[in-house]
Amino acid sequence: MRILITAGPTREHLDPVRFISNRSTGKMGFALAERAAARGHAVTLVAGPVTCETPAGVRRIDVVSACEMLDAVRRELGDAQALIMCAAVADWRPKRLSPVKLKKRDMEPILELEPNPDILLTLQPDKGGRLFVGFAAETGDPLAEAQRKLIAKGLDLLAANDVSQPDAGFAVDTNRVTLLAPGCDPEHLPLLTKHAVADRILDRLERLNL
Ligand code: C5P
Repeated sequence: MRILITAGPTREHLDPVRFISNRSTGKMGFALAERAAARGHAVTLVAGPVTCETPAGVRRIDVVSACEMLDAVRRELGDAQALIMCAAVADWRPKRLSPVKLKKRDMEPILELEPNPDILLTLQPDKGGRLFVGFAAETGDPLAEAQRKLIAKGLDLLAANDVSQPDAGFAVDTNRVTLLAPGCDPEHLPLLTKHAVADRILDRLERLNL
């Protein structure tokens, strides 16, 4: 399969040195890219700012902001049979971007934000026969909100995890994930390495592609 994967956070700059972002390190998305390439898939990885090494055999495109990620995914989607949106896309960006570093004395103590486009929703009309996979990082009970996102974003598969647990979610090598698909019972995976979670997601994706 030709698989397009996104990974990492996005950064939303207010000037050349300041930005808003989130705690994503890219580990889950890079594990997916590594395992997918090892299984013989052709992988393009659109990565936000992360320090992860590019896995062998993976074509990587670096981006910074959510709008740049949308542009890259839109450009690459035509060639892909599956899109896995693993990136933690920032929901908001500063309304104004200064080309020069803002002086503290010129700054307001309130930052005005505007919403970023939702990449999965924006590209829904171009989905065609492609498989779309999403992630949902929640705190508290992840399942109810994840079920809502599965339907709202028109996904074929969604990996939900509770990022309030210290051994799952951001910046660790393990994850505890539940896989949701329309019309299927939730598949609760045990605590696994992110590489093992990637394999379980790819098992499901390959079965959906049959
Ligand atoms: O942020 P949220 O929980 O809605 O993210 C769920 C899914 O939607 C993830 O797969 C994420 O990559 C994707 N997403 C997106 N565009 C955004 C925000 C999230 O495609 N602006």
